[in-house]
Amino acid sequence: MKLCMIGTGYVGLVSGVCFSDFGHDVICVDKDNKKINSLKRGIVPIYEPGLSELVIKNFKNKKLHFSSDLKDSVKKSDIIFICVGTPTKKGGSSADLTQIYDVSKELSTSINKYKIIITKSTVPVTTGDEIEKILLKKNKKNKFSVVSNPEFLREGEAIRDFTYPDRIIVGSNDKKSNKILRNLYSPLISKGAQYLNTSRRAAELIKYSSNAFLATKITFINELANLCEKTNINIEDISIGMGLDKRIGSRFLRAGPAYGGSCFPKDTKAIISTADKFKSDLSVIKSVIKSNKNRSNILLNKVNNLLNKKIKNKKITFLGVTFKANTDDMRDSPSLTMIPSLVKKGASIKYYDPTGYKIEFKKIKNVYFKHTIKEAIAGSDLVIIHTEWNDFKSINFKNLVKGKKFIIYDLRNIYSPSKIKAQGFKYYSIGR
Ligand SMILES: NC(=O)c1ccc[n+]([C@@H]2O[C@H](COP(=O)([O-])OP(=O)(O)OC[C@H]3O[C@@H](n4cnc5c(N)ncnc54)[C@H](O)[C@@H]3O)[C@@H](O)[C@H]2O)c1
Repeated sequence: MKLCMIGTGYVGLVSGVCFSDFGHDVICVDKDNKKINSLKRGIVPIYEPGLSELVIKNFKNKKLHFSSDLKDSVKKSDIIFICVGTPTKKGGSSADLTQIYDVSKELSTSINKYKIIITKSTVPVTTGDEIEKILLKKNKKNKFSVVSNPEFLREGEAIRDFTYPDRIIVGSNDKKSNKILRNLYSPLISKGAQYLNTSRRAAELIKYSSNAFLATKITFINELANLCEKTNINIEDISIGMGLDKRIGSRFLRAGPAYGGSCFPKDTKAIISTADKFKSDLSVIKSVIKSNKNRSNILLNKVNNLLNKKIKNKKITFLGVTFKANTDDMRDSPSLTMIPSLVKKGASIKYYDPTGYKIEFKKIKNVYFKHTIKEAIAGSDLVIIHTEWNDFKSINFKNLVKGKKFIIYDLRNIYSPSKIKAQGFKYYSIGR
């Protein structure tokens, strides 16, 4: 089948590449010419393990193409995936659907035969209905189907997640598109993925509900970690003990900093906004957002206490600044709240991240990128392990920096407290 991915970001590029690897002809379209030109030269603009190799392989095999001509690419394709961004509206909390509707208008003039138009982007309930209205202005009803097929991949594990998903959700209101999509996904279904066909609106809501639920799990365990710190209980025991109950499950029950990233913060806000529109109260998710917002304050208070309430002129190191490991994505990373706040209180920050320098800190005074862990921690008063990169899991702090002993605040519970304390460091972690 001939596929077109509109929007060549984390979702569009990964799914496009994986579809091409299954043998389909895929055109990845983006309005960002720079991105398309570098992809044509084999340069992948994002950090995602294994992605570069797959892009180069399928581009060479001529299964994967890149273009900035949306109309031409749509005309050549049978199935169109809309994978553009749906960020939070500026100054609001609902999803900004400008990119979705702009694309819908543009592609509505290129429907030269029956096509399936799919939202892979995360879109609020009724977005599919709106897209259908836009397409109907220029096309007959039998020329297209509008389907919701939300994506559940996680950055850092995107290729694996796309290739071995737990489930594939297809929200279609007609049998024809459902049949074609079941066939498109047959290589994944035969490997064990559950295929669930629902109404279009249900598929749209499944995506938001799933993200809101996962955000709730994280927030839940983060709050319990606060209680554990006050009661001298190890949060890891609680996570394991709870997770062994199959009704609960162990994943997303690891205490740490606030949840961040390109999805949970914006999607929890957007689902509330949808519920408000339909006069329905999602009070649990509202309190999750509130609790998560407060999470960075709690951690910053702890930093203040660790430094005897004297942050001014202290040298603080961040190991990792992305919201999670194995990605370069900085969107809504907790470091974006924590670092400026510490700088405001007079601290000087050095950071090291395996994905390199971050433009987000360019305009903040006293924030310095260092090329190695050693350079980043030299002379530090406090080292904060912010992201759980493998690179940080077996640092021999004692050998790396001779002499001065700094405090270590491990937000990911990577190290064994007793072992690291035995090396002479003051060590603090989360909920234990
Ligand atoms: N990033 C994730 O982990 C993830 C996971 C699941 C779902 N999602 C959802 O998928 C969607 C995309 O997320 P992302 O992280 O890939 O976004 P992204 O910002 O990385 O990529 C979006 C791309 O769309 C392009 N674009 C915007 N308007 C365009 C147009 N008119 N024509 C062509 N290209 C256009 C942009 O230039 C950009 O390259 C969002 O709705 C997001 O919530 C993201």
